[in-house]
Amino acid sequence: MKLDLAIRNAQVATSSGVFSGDIGIFSGQIVQLGIVGPAATEVDATGLIVTPGGVDTHCHLDEVMPGLTHEAESFDTGGRSALAGGTTSAISFIRQIPDHDMADVVAESMRRALRSRIDYSFHMTITDPTPEILAELPPLVAKGMRSLKVFLTYDISRLDDGAFLDVLVAARKSGAMVAVHCENYHAIGWLTEKLLAAGLTTPKYHSWSRPKVVEREATYRAICLAELVDTPIQIFHVSCAEVAEEIARAQARGLKVWGETCPQYLLLTEDDMDRPDGAGFMCSPSPRTKADHEEMWDMIRRGVIDVISSDHSASNLTGVHGKDAAGPDASFRDIPNGVPGVGARMPLVFSEGVIKGRITLDHFVRLTATNPAKLYGLAPKKGDIVIGADADLVLWDPTREVVLDNTLMQHAVDYTPYDGIKVTGWPVATYLRGVRAMQDNNVLMPEGGGQFVPRAPYSLAAPRGIVPNGFVAADI
Ligand code: URP
Ligand code: ZN
Ligand code: ZN
Repeated sequence: MKLDLAIRNAQVATSSGVFSGDIGIFSGQIVQLGIVGPAATEVDATGLIVTPGGVDTHCHLDEVMPGLTHEAESFDTGGRSALAGGTTSAISFIRQIPDHDMADVVAESMRRALRSRIDYSFHMTITDPTPEILAELPPLVAKGMRSLKVFLTYDISRLDDGAFLDVLVAARKSGAMVAVHCENYHAIGWLTEKLLAAGLTTPKYHSWSRPKVVEREATYRAICLAELVDTPIQIFHVSCAEVAEEIARAQARGLKVWGETCPQYLLLTEDDMDRPDGAGFMCSPSPRTKADHEEMWDMIRRGVIDVISSDHSASNLTGVHGKDAAGPDASFRDIPNGVPGVGARMPLVFSEGVIKGRITLDHFVRLTATNPAKLYGLAPKKGDIVIGADADLVLWDPTREVVLDNTLMQHAVDYTPYDGIKVTGWPVATYLRGVRAMQDNNVLMPEGGGQFVPRAPYSLAAPRGIVPNGFVAADI
């Protein structure tokens, strides 16, 4: 058989180790590894490292939003940024909109995603689990959107404990993973009122309104409620070790609980929000301190945190929907949350993790590709360099030094919070299903080149079969 593409003489980094050799690709898939046969297209990767394409399972792209709230990033521009930074698939969000059927929002989201340059799937965010909405979920999960997202904070999104239990049970019954944003809504609201009354309104006080304890409390509560109805969960965007410790305790007890963190909790600090452009660093949970970054790397090495996603959630600094839309003196309460990061994620983790000696290369692969793909049912198609997987590949020059700036991010947003950070190691080419999608910062994959990836039932999303007292309230 003549291969379509052979990538030769590379350091090939897989989830289980690194070897020197070739990768053979036919019809968009990896079909040979080691010493591979002749190919129509030959790529010499001498001196380069090849990793799987990044899998970013937390990425807000052109989400259909209620009211006037607005996502700055489309599937086109977000996908362009992803490919520039070595990410080839992402899971975005389909949010329940008041007074709309979920199926209608799904249809509109699918229409928007037709512009994607990368492969994609969706989490379905449930903000009001009425019986009608819950009845809509099983067929949508069966179509491959095999994960639900819930918020325990934010005015327009948060669920109380009873509603959260309803969503957990719906996920358990339909075989979906649940992702949870854990912060205590009432505590944040109460603190916010006190801060504003004291005149403490600038972006810096965003972090004072949501100290670690509000994240820890909600994380512990989410874990307990998930244990009560025996449903696997991933805790989204863990910001610090005291929160990760709650996850470690749950894991030690055998619960199916996983933890995600993001580059903003490994590089940004609360002091960044005290800069003149501090609004650009505001996200929830809040960035913490440099000491917290090191403690989080420990949690990553321990395996408590096993996924690093971007939580790419982009508002411009300026403009009608931007961070400054409520005026220069707006209080932190009125500034949109979220930071862009889909393009920066892989180079930042490669440089801060592998090059600085905090993690090994195979661990980098697991954190940024294999583990997220497994946790959300994209494996074995996505997330590793193995026979039969999609040929989603990134060629890295591990010696290239690059100072990040907004142009390199290639997203639609007018800034990056990582501006000025020097990284060592840079993606020089990205392949999606065997097609060269980026070369030397030029994104070649056209708008619409991405595909929806339906997710079949998988074991990580299955319940353990252990409930308190043996009373399966979830089945009632
Ligand atoms: O501040 C953040 N994280 N915004 C994005 C939405 C979310 O909470 O994930
Ligand atoms: Zn969140
Ligand atoms: Zn998010």
